[in-house]
Amino acid sequence: MKNEGLTLRMGKRELSRFFLTVLIFCVLLLIYVKYKNIHECLGPAAPFVDIKTVHKYNINCSAIYHMDSVEVHKSVTIRQKHIVEDNDENLIYLTLNCSLFRKVRGYDDVCVSDEEKDFPIAYSLVVHKYPWMVERLIRVTYSPSNIYCIHYDLKSSLRFIAAMEGLSQCLPNVFITSKREDVIYDGFSRLKADLNCLSDLLQSEVKWKYVINLCGQDFPLRPNIELVSELKNLNGSNMLETCRPPQFKKNRYGFHYEVRDAEFEYKKTPVQTSKKKAPPPHNIEMFTGSTYFVLSRDFVVFMNASVVVRDFLAWSEDTYSPDEHFWATIVRLPGVPGEVPRSHPDITDLMSKTRLVKWSYLEESLYPPCTGLHVRDVCIFGAAEIHWLLSYGHWFANRFDTNVDPIAVQCLEEKLEERKNIFQSIAARHSL
Ligand SMILES: *[C@@H]1O[C@H](CO)[C@@H](O)[C@H](O)[C@H]1NC(C)=O
Ligand SMILES: *[C@@H]1O[C@H](CO)[C@@H](O)[C@H](O)[C@H]1NC(C)=O
Ligand SMILES: *[C@@H]1O[C@H](CO)[C@@H](O)[C@H](O)[C@H]1NC(C)=O
Ligand SMILES: *[C@@H]1O[C@H](CO)[C@@H](O)[C@H](O)[C@H]1NC(C)=O
Repeated sequence: MKNEGLTLRMGKRELSRFFLTVLIFCVLLLIYVKYKNIHECLGPAAPFVDIKTVHKYNINCSAIYHMDSVEVHKSVTIRQKHIVEDNDENLIYLTLNCSLFRKVRGYDDVCVSDEEKDFPIAYSLVVHKYPWMVERLIRVTYSPSNIYCIHYDLKSSLRFIAAMEGLSQCLPNVFITSKREDVIYDGFSRLKADLNCLSDLLQSEVKWKYVINLCGQDFPLRPNIELVSELKNLNGSNMLETCRPPQFKKNRYGFHYEVRDAEFEYKKTPVQTSKKKAPPPHNIEMFTGSTYFVLSRDFVVFMNASVVVRDFLAWSEDTYSPDEHFWATIVRLPGVPGEVPRSHPDITDLMSKTRLVKWSYLEESLYPPCTGLHVRDVCIFGAAEIHWLLSYGHWFANRFDTNVDPIAVQCLEEKLEERKNIFQSIAARHSL
């Protein structure tokens, strides 16, 4: 493998500048202190700043946030010409030394309020690529009291898997799900991946209050302390999209589907057969929504024990994209903890705060245009959108890609850190 791991990798000019700085520093030290201190300036602290993690761009995020045109223009130039791809192997190497990893990435310094300690949140992360993004997602939502289940796809690269194993070795509250799926887009296995994590999370000693599922291209719009306060306000109810199915979606469970090789893009996909499907068991009324949820612990415990849910799950196995009707339907079952009553009006993706997604066909009418890039109908956010994202009121957003706009992610991280500090100082003042 062509990688120097933790050793320095610098150009000649940088190297000489580095040594010059070190030299000046040492000379100054020598003047003020005795010889015995020399080793301190060349000791373990020196490589620390040079450990390769994610590339940090020289940009003023405060100006980006306030949509300063000069700074936004600068960010566009960077993303068009100077994207530095983060190296997966650096993460693998860094997690070989856990104490170093935690120190460099700040996990040991995360400070949490009492409210956060008393309100653990569980995460189900269904991921398959971009290991650094997974690490950043964990880091930005991190509290030592939270718990993270990672489901990586059986098709993931060995490098990706090694990085995920590394994260789980170094962070005691991060684990890999006990059962992993070969995830087929729009197939039952996508739903199964989350169910595997939920089942492991229920077994965990951490008595989490809510569980949130995320994918590798999501990013939060609220720091942990604010999420805790928002989740408390739910008073035990669940939050997710759940709507009466439009006619075209009824076919998704009106016929049997079979997984077949797809012609384009995805290797396999469920394909509609001519065989009509029986209606769902137990007279269940169907609703549709999203893969993504915010569920209370009581709801998940109920789900785990319910025969109705078990039968419905089995029935869903040969439907199209069951993740998009499974959660939306069972949250409307009469009597479930945190139930959304069947008579309750539709809860759309813009009402439920779980996930903010910009669809190209709704831009201009529902929200400002995408400043990043469209991939099919979805906007990959650009840096100029972070003000809008943070002001909208949602808790998470999709989609981010550091190969499209790394500044958007970097500046979100910075703003979330700021918000966290503000909220924590308010919380500290209240508890005095
Ligand atoms: C960054 O931008 C903000 C707001 O535009 C400005 O007040 C601040 O001085 C800038 N910081 C630096 C280091 O240039
Ligand atoms: C791991 O990193 C620490 C610094 O945090 C260093 O002191 C230690 O020697 C490293 N361990 C190994 C095995 O390299
Ligand atoms: C939770 O209860 C509080 C206080 O009773 C109320 O203001 C709030 O609207 C409730 N939240 C939900 C989601 O029902
Ligand atoms: C979940 O269901 C399994 C099997 O029915 C059961 O053994 C387990 O105790 C349940 N877990 C919880 C936390 O209820």
